[in-house]
Formats: sequence, structure tokens, C-alpha cells
Amino acid sequence: MTPDIRSALALATDASDKVRGTTSPNPPVGAVILDARGEVAGVGATQPPGGAHAEVMALAAAGERARGGTAVVTLEPCNHTGRTGPCSQALIHAGIARVFYANPDPFPQAAGGADHLQQAGVETHLLNEPVPALMPWLRATILERPHVTLKFAGTLDGFAAATDGTSQWITGEQARAFVHTDRAKRDAIIVGTGTVLADDPSLTARGPNGLYSQQPRRVVVGGRRVPDGSNLNRLGFEQYAGINDALIALWQAGCRDVLLEGGPTLATAMLRDGLVDAIQAYIAPALLGAGRSVLSWDGDTTISDIKRFSTTAVRQLGDDVLIDMIRKDH
Ligand SMILES: NC(=O)c1ccc[n+]([C@@H]2O[C@H](COP(=O)([O-])OP(=O)(O)OC[C@H]3O[C@@H](n4cnc5c(N)ncnc54)[C@H](OP(=O)(O)O)[C@@H]3O)[C@@H](O)[C@H]2O)c1
Repeated sequence: MTPDIRSALALATDASDKVRGTTSPNPPVGAVILDARGEVAGVGATQPPGGAHAEVMALAAAGERARGGTAVVTLEPCNHTGRTGPCSQALIHAGIARVFYANPDPFPQAAGGADHLQQAGVETHLLNEPVPALMPWLRATILERPHVTLKFAGTLDGFAAATDGTSQWITGEQARAFVHTDRAKRDAIIVGTGTVLADDPSLTARGPNGLYSQQPRRVVVGGRRVPDGSNLNRLGFEQYAGINDALIALWQAGCRDVLLEGGPTLATAMLRDGLVDAIQAYIAPALLGAGRSVLSWDGDTTISDIKRFSTTAVRQLGDDVLIDMIRKDH
């Protein structure tokens, strides 16, 4: 990849990340238009459902400078007419000469954009580069259910709470602030009734100036009643008796990227059912020696029961470390 395409892809990836959490059921795509001299002429990202796609936004920003230029997009330009026209056609119409895209579109109705562009004489190149903001949407589209990220905070020796159940302040301020910015990028947060009854969580995305404008849906799994005076009752939530009921309803509501925030019983059930696609582990440089684990596996295990993940990113947040992982077989 030449340096101008690499830096355009970095810009497009950044644009993808900025709109994450606002586009479902559509993917958070970023697009950059380079003019014929290779200079950035326009940057765009997917608008909320019903709005313009990333390529259309970037083309509008570039205007006439798009003619003879290059488009660098995080996802293959779509080829179908949904609520907006096909992006492949918009690129052809604008006189784009070359298109570089990071990922092929797995959605059957939208795929074929690259072929359409080639047939119209536009040079196309698949880059096969990871775009973190798009990953959940890509997996969800293939799995035909929301992509699930299990998030937990724990000590270095693997405990999420002390033996008496106390769990506050395991991680520091920066890690806790990061959790909130991340929540604002998700379509929903899921917890079990055990967590609701023990912690009375709000499940909101909050910053120094109050609630972020983008809030995930608040979802509870389990049959027990959420108490009348609880924070969730005040804020609004949805409840499902089973995990599959929850995932089906969330998929139908357009959710593609959901965060599972526990607790141990629900997290274990979803892991066992093969429903945990990614993990976000916030690890504090602290030891408890004994406590409650992030999971509550009943019975014995043998090493062949191990669930392996691949590390995709490691980030230091103050004193704590955030490790992002995806399922090995994904
Ligand atoms: N440090 C962390 O990262 C973290 C995160 C979250 C929670 N926690 C802690 O975890 C503790 C609560 O633990 P917990 O295990 O009781 O909480 P939980 O997993 O949130 O809730 C358990 C409940 O979820 C429902 N459930 C679980 N699996 C299910 C399945 N397969 N199908 C349908 N419903 C299912 C059941 O509800 P019903 O019985 O109502 O049917 C079950 O009793 C609290 O002390 C909390 O502070 C820690």
C-alpha cells in the first residue's frame, strides 16, 4: 500500500470510529476522496439510518475535485438501492478513477459493488485491512445475530469482586471513564437480573458533562422482577426471560454491536452457548488472593474446556490495562 493510500485509510478508519453507535443497522463506514493529485479532497462517514452513506458524504465534501480521483473506503461500496441509492453508482457518476476498500461487504443484498465499479472501468483494490469499528458489524452480519462483547474488570489474579461481593474501585478513574465512552459506541448493554438486584446499575454512558448524546439500549435477562424504585425503572429498560429471546429481539430492533456486562452467571451461560464473540478485559495491577471470579463455572474443568481468544489491542488506562480480544475461531 502506498503512503498516500495508507494515510487516507487511517483517516477513513478514524471517520468510521467517530460514528460508531449511531448507524445500526447500517455499518459505521468511513470514506476519503483523494483528488487526482493525491490530496485529501473530502472525508465522510455513514449518517444515522435513512441518511447518506459514507461515500456520498465524502463525494459531497470533495465536489468537482473527485473527478479522476481515488476513493478509500473502510467497506466495499454498496451496490443496492435501499433507503439511499447505491454508492458504487455515486462513485462512477462522480468520475472516481480508483477505489481502495478495506473489507468486502458480507451482506448479500449490498455486495457486488466492486464488480459494478470494475465493469464501469473503475480500478478497484481490496486491502483486507482490519477496521476495529467495523468488526462487530461484519461479524454480526455473518452470524445473523448481534455481535456480543463480554466486558469485565478484574484483578491480576482474576477476581471481579471480593468474597463478600464488594467490587467497587477495582479499576481506576481513567479505565472507568473509558468504559463510558465505549458504552456510547454500542447499540445495547446486557446484564442479568443478579447484577440489577445487587448493584442497581444505570447502564448509561456518562461523561464529565453528564449523559452522552448516544445511549445504548438497557437490557436485562432473567425472570426476576426489576424493583420499582431502581435506576433502570427510572430510565427505561427492556427485559427478556432468555438469552435467545433477547438476541432475537435486539437483532430485529437493528442492534448489531452489544456489550455484555455480566454478571458471572449470565456471562458463563453465554460463553458456554458460544455467544461471546469478543472480550474487553480491564485488568487492575492489584491482587485479592480470593474472591468472586468473572465467570461462575459450576463443576470441574479439564484443559480441553479452555476457551481461547486472540489479542487484538492492548491499551494502558492510567494504572490499568485494557485487553481487547476476539474469539479464535472468528
Ligand atoms: N466486576 C464485574 O465485571 C461485574 C460485572 C457484573 C456483575 N458483577 C457482580 O456479579 C454479582 C451478580 O452475579 P450473578 O451471577 O447473580 O448475576 P447475573 O449473571 O447478572 O444474573 C444472574 C441471573 O441472570 C439470569 N440468567 C443467567 N443465565 C441465564 C440464562 N441462560 N437464561 C436465562 N436467564 C439467565 C437469571 O435470572 P433469573 O434468576 O431472574 O431468571 C440469573 O439468576 C453482583 O455482585 C455484581 O456486583 C461484577
